[in-house]
Amino acid sequence: MLNFDDDIVAPPAQNLSNGEPARAASNPVAPPSPAHVADYRAQMNETGKPVENDLAAQMRAHTGRVRAEDKRVINGGADVNQLVPFKYNWAWDKYLGGCANHWMPQEINMQRDIELWKRPDGLTDDERLIVKRNLGFFVTADSLAANNIVLGTYRHITAPECRQYLLRQAFEEAIHTHAYQYIVQSLGLDEAEIFNAYNEIKSIRDKDDFLIPFIQTLTDPNFKTGTPEADQALLKSLIVFSCIMEGLFFYVGFVQILALGRQNKMTGSAEQYQYILRDESMHCNFGIDLVNTIKMENPHLWTEDFKTEIKGLIKRGVELEYAYAEDTMPRGVLGLNAPMFKEYLRFIANRRCQQIGLDALFDKAENPFPWMSEVMDLKKEKNFFETRVIEYQTGGALSWE
Ligand SMILES: [Fe+2]
Ligand SMILES: [Fe+2]
Repeated sequence: MLNFDDDIVAPPAQNLSNGEPARAASNPVAPPSPAHVADYRAQMNETGKPVENDLAAQMRAHTGRVRAEDKRVINGGADVNQLVPFKYNWAWDKYLGGCANHWMPQEINMQRDIELWKRPDGLTDDERLIVKRNLGFFVTADSLAANNIVLGTYRHITAPECRQYLLRQAFEEAIHTHAYQYIVQSLGLDEAEIFNAYNEIKSIRDKDDFLIPFIQTLTDPNFKTGTPEADQALLKSLIVFSCIMEGLFFYVGFVQILALGRQNKMTGSAEQYQYILRDESMHCNFGIDLVNTIKMENPHLWTEDFKTEIKGLIKRGVELEYAYAEDTMPRGVLGLNAPMFKEYLRFIANRRCQQIGLDALFDKAENPFPWMSEVMDLKKEKNFFETRVIEYQTGGALSWE
C-alpha cells in the first residue's frame, strides 16, 4: 500500500497538445507482457485493423446527442452508455424500487429454524420433504436465472434504463442463491443432496430441461437479433423466463414455505422466502413490461402462430409445476394438497396470459391462497415474523492506514 512519504513515481510524460507520449519520457513505459500482446492480437483482424465489437459499433454509430425518441428496447441504435434522456421510466422506477427493497440473508435470525429442524419431533417427514425439495429446486434455479441475465438477456437489450434494472436484478439473483445456501448451511443439510437435486429429482430436472433450450438461445454467442425470426426467438425466451420461470415455477415452492411460516414453523426460512417473493414478483413484472414494450415497438412479431405457441408453452409450464407439486406433497400437509395447486397454477397462468395480452387458458380458475398477495406487499421495516436480527454488519469502513 502507498505511504504518504513514498517517492512519487511520475506517469509517462504526455504531449498535452495531441495526447501522444512525449519522445523524451522520463519513465519509459514497460514493454507489454506476452499475455497482453496475445489479448491485443485477438482483437485484430487479418488486415491488422481492430475488430469492432457490438459496444464499439453502437458508440461509433451515434455521433450526435442521444434523443429519447431514438431509443428502442431491442435493435436500438442509440448509445447504450447514456442512461438519460429517459424513455422507459417504468424500468428506471423498478430499478429504484429494487434498491429500496434491498436486504441480505444474514439479517434474518435462523436460530428458531435450527432448533426446530434438530428436534426429532419438530417437523413431520412430509414437512421436511417440502423443505428439502424446495431448496433442491431453488439452490440452482437462481444461478440459472443470473446466468440467463448476465450471459444472455443483457446484451440483447439496447435500452440503458432496462439494462440498469437487469444489473440490479442480477445482483438480487445472487442474493437469492446466497439466501438458499444460508438456509442449507444453517440447517446443516447434506449440501451434495440439495445442490444435486436438479440432476437427481425428476420433477425438478423436468422443469430445468424445459427452460434450458430457451436460456441457450439467449446465451448462444452467435445469436443476434435483427431478423423477425431471431426477434421472435428472443421474445419467446423472455416470455418463458418471466412468465413461466419467475412467474409460475417459483410459486408452489413459495406457497409451501410461507404456509409453514404461517403455522409458526421455519419462520426464519419463511422470512427469507418472503423477501425473495417480493423481489421475484418485481422481476416478473419487469419481464412482462419488457415483453409488452417489445411487442408495441415490433407488432409484426406478435402473430397468431406465435401466440398459439406461447399458450402451448404456458400450458406445458402448468403441467410441469403441477407434477412438482405432487412430487413434493404426496399427501395433504399444512392444510395444503396437490389439487389446490392445480387451481392455483391455473389461476396464475390465466393472469400471466392476460398480462401479455393473451386470452385466459383455463375456465373459472380462482385463487385458493388469497393470503399470498398480502405476503407480497410486505414492507421491510415492518417485520411479519418478528425474527429480524438488528446487529448485522453493513460493510467494512475505509481506512487510510
Ligand atoms: Fe431469484
Ligand atoms: Fe428473479
